Amino acid sequence: MKNQTTLVLLSIISYLLIATHARKQIPTTAAATGKSWVRTIVRGSENITQLHFYVHDVRAGENATLYRVANSSITATSPTSFGSVNVFDDLITAEPDINSEQVARAQGTSTSADLVNQAVAISMNFYITSGEFSGSTVSIAGRNPVTEASRELPVTGGTGAFRFARGYAVTTTYLHDSEANYSILEYTVYVTYSNVALWSDILDVVTCYTIHCFSPLNAFKRVAESLEKLMDATREELPDTMAVVRLSGMEISDLTMELCDNGFG
Ligand SMILES: *[C@@H]1O[C@H](CO)[C@@H](O)[C@H](O)[C@H]1NC(C)=O
Ligand SMILES: *[C@@H]1O[C@H](CO)[C@@H](O)[C@H](O)[C@H]1NC(C)=O
Ligand SMILES: *[C@@H]1O[C@H](CO)[C@@H](O)[C@H](O)[C@H]1NC(C)=O
Ligand SMILES: *[C@@H]1O[C@H](CO)[C@@H](O)[C@H](O)[C@H]1NC(C)=O
Repeated sequence: MKNQTTLVLLSIISYLLIATHARKQIPTTAAATGKSWVRTIVRGSENITQLHFYVHDVRAGENATLYRVANSSITATSPTSFGSVNVFDDLITAEPDINSEQVARAQGTSTSADLVNQAVAISMNFYITSGEFSGSTVSIAGRNPVTEASRELPVTGGTGAFRFARGYAVTTTYLHDSEANYSILEYTVYVTYSNVALWSDILDVVTCYTIHCFSPLNAFKRVAESLEKLMDATREELPDTMAVVRLSGMEISDLTMELCDNGFG
């Protein structure tokens, strides 16, 4: 009897694990929107944008975009050039050809930070310069084991269209010419971000109502509409990483309720 209960419990747990995992998979049948290097799919109150592009690491010559700025006392003797720091502002193109469409810049630093393996600690921003996301940034910070065939880096945030961003990037070396000191790195970046407009709507209502810029009846209507939208969004089961946002959303709605009570009491 006890064994059967355990078995049932295990089955339920496995089912939940599989279901949760399946839900987290990035759909592959994405409807392409915009240019070929960028695709966006909408999933509930979230958007997932896939960016695919090529980063040009030019380490020498008149058009160099990467420079060594520091060495440690052991860089020269270290098998991994430990402690060397490079700063870069690399061109990003839609295709491998450096003369193809320019879509972004990769700006940041890479620090040799592993005494034993070839791995750098990378901190960089993808600054999008073309298309619908022009002006927005995606921030990356993580460990890059440069000699491995495929490397994964975390997306830690973003600005503009990519506020509240999270996700990951996968990178491979498309070309490495050590004589010319030139490399092309292929990147696929998955950025998930919530429908920020929803939160700013609610904030607008609170702000507007507080300073009495429209009639109480109108305010009540807008609050009701925003609350309805908020309920829709929270029903979408915001992931754990969005818990803070969800909480502040609930706090905002509490505040809105309070304002209404005061206004109509
Ligand atoms: C540097 O860039 C200029 C302008 O794009 C180009 O004419 C020149 O050939 C480049 N030099 C090298 C060494 O690639
Ligand atoms: C660091 O060391 C390399 C190789 O030893 C040297 O070429 C470079 O000039 C040094 N850079 C700095 C900033 O000290
Ligand atoms: C590439 O770098 C190496 C050392 O890192 C240097 O000896 C060589 O001259 C560089 N090549 C060019 C084309 O600058
Ligand atoms: C999500 O994508 C849709 C369709 O491209 C767009 O209309 C909407 O504004 C996007 N949402 C955010 C928060 O960017």
